[in-house]
Amino acid sequence: MRKSKTRTQGTIAKPSRSTAGSLLRDPALFARIVLGADLWQAQREILTALGKRSRVAVKACHASGKSYAIAIAVLWWLTAHRDGIVVTTAPTWLQVEKVIWGEIKSAVLRSLLYGKLKFPVPTQTELRLGPQNYAVGLSTDDSSRFQGFHSGHVLIVLDEAPGVRAEVYEAVEGIRAGGQVRVLALGNPTVTGGPFYGAFTANRASWRTFTINAFDTPNLQGLSLESLRLLPKGLSENESTFEYRPRPYLVTRRWVYEKLWEWGEDSPLWQSRVLGSFPEQSEDSLISLRWLEAARESIEPPPGKKLMVGIDVAGSDGGAETFAVVRQGGQIIAMEGWTLQDPLTEVNKFLYPFRNRIDEVNIDTIGVGLNFKPRLEALGYPCNGVNVGEASDDSDIYLGVKAQLYWRLRELFEAGEIHGLTDELAISQLSSIRWKSNLHGKIVIESKADLSKRGIKSPDRAEALMLAFADRTPGISRYYEELSEARAAREKDPSMPESEPDTELADVYEAERRRQQNGGDAPERTYGADPLPGYSNICQKCGQPINGTGTDIGAKRWHLECFGK
Ligand SMILES: Nc1ncnc2c1ncn2[C@@H]1O[C@H](COP(=O)(O)OP(=O)(O)OP(=O)(O)O)[C@@H](O)[C@H]1O
Ligand SMILES: [Mg+2]
Repeated sequence: MRKSKTRTQGTIAKPSRSTAGSLLRDPALFARIVLGADLWQAQREILTALGKRSRVAVKACHASGKSYAIAIAVLWWLTAHRDGIVVTTAPTWLQVEKVIWGEIKSAVLRSLLYGKLKFPVPTQTELRLGPQNYAVGLSTDDSSRFQGFHSGHVLIVLDEAPGVRAEVYEAVEGIRAGGQVRVLALGNPTVTGGPFYGAFTANRASWRTFTINAFDTPNLQGLSLESLRLLPKGLSENESTFEYRPRPYLVTRRWVYEKLWEWGEDSPLWQSRVLGSFPEQSEDSLISLRWLEAARESIEPPPGKKLMVGIDVAGSDGGAETFAVVRQGGQIIAMEGWTLQDPLTEVNKFLYPFRNRIDEVNIDTIGVGLNFKPRLEALGYPCNGVNVGEASDDSDIYLGVKAQLYWRLRELFEAGEIHGLTDELAISQLSSIRWKSNLHGKIVIESKADLSKRGIKSPDRAEALMLAFADRTPGISRYYEELSEARAAREKDPSMPESEPDTELADVYEAERRRQQNGGDAPERTYGADPLPGYSNICQKCGQPINGTGTDIGAKRWHLECFGK
């Protein structure tokens, strides 16, 4: 045991030399004797392993005490090594600051109350006992910062480890090349792939691994999956089965019961969040759980962007939900669902606060949505009817509009452009949808009937999200938007070149024209002999009057067939 005088903290109250030795070798013992923490078995085993092994990986269900165990590991490492350094990280800064460091602060406060050891109170994400003896929280955005820890005893802790970027794991390997380095990586196993997955598969031999299934946690003792399956749906919170909660802060019976009904045993979320196993997510899932996890984090909505709304209107088939999603740019700002026969009043109540900022409302016009759209329009909302059963704009690639729009949604998730999606049911639905390529090589999205065969109910929330992110703005108005953006840019900076004609946009426009010709329900504009004041009814291309359907940019008009020529 080193001399306490040289340290900023107090010392352990008169332990014998051998007790102190074992305390410092075994973090689980340290937790109990020094910090007064009452760990449950898995936490004890994980911490004991960290005392012996250089790499420990834990894949575990939700609320199994992972982050709590991190706090113990951090305080133990700092105490056990005079030159002990701890680097903590997680995929988002919020997780570093609020979750990991929230637990560290609580552990420090508890230890002060317990009175065995005095740690200084941590700052936001730093706890310093001496110049070479400290713990810090780092954001994973800058992996180069991980390279600066080469001296002393270094403990690296990765919370929510499946979401930590691969560069960080590489940097960690760099640190491991020299000195005394240990790694503790914990998380919900949401991502089937990457370094965390590797710790349980290809590289398993070099890690000590743990798996925590919710059914092994204290509150679920005595309740098996088989007996849970037998419970009827809709049990109240006070049901006696749910009363057993010796550790109420950990995952509860009630939560697991709810998720069984909500997610189903087939869903990747159930496998990961409840069973603590990597989801058997096949390559054919449309949107991976990893992208969905990353989309949880919110961003500041882009200023000036108008709001887009997607509404999936429920059919009369029982239990289906009418669901609405409001987004601003990539940020989801509101969502709500109703299981009413006629949800118009509720939808209006929900949208009303946003009404002046809404650019467009995309409504599924298959079935009941067809009547819903004009009624919502009559309340003053600008609506686009989207018939997902129609042929797609690019029918060489997608089988129908549904495939096209879901594929677009997939691309947005993959590019990390969707934010603020925390609704568990929406996440579950999105992660369950599968796609395939048909005999002609076209992208096909699994039908509702096939989903239902796999025990998955109508994915109303996924559909509403798909609609909210569907770009159904008729080509011409997009063209107009881009034109005015280009103009504004040139006004600011006259050296900007004149914008090139956008052939892609012309294609979009052409597709829109075909859609209208084919009886699509986009509103047509009919210009008669008496144009509105200030408007011309002469086509800008051919100079002939427009007496049928036309299109316009500001006060100018073209025949549909002339535009884009
Ligand atoms: N042994 C313990 N004694 C007291 N409280 C605990 C203990 N273990 C965990 N907790 C508390 O239980 C709650 C859930 O634990 P924790 O957040 O560590 O779980 P987790 O597995 O990290 O959850 P998530 O899956 O949400 O990340 C927290 O409030 C934590 O402080
Ligand atoms: Mg946690």
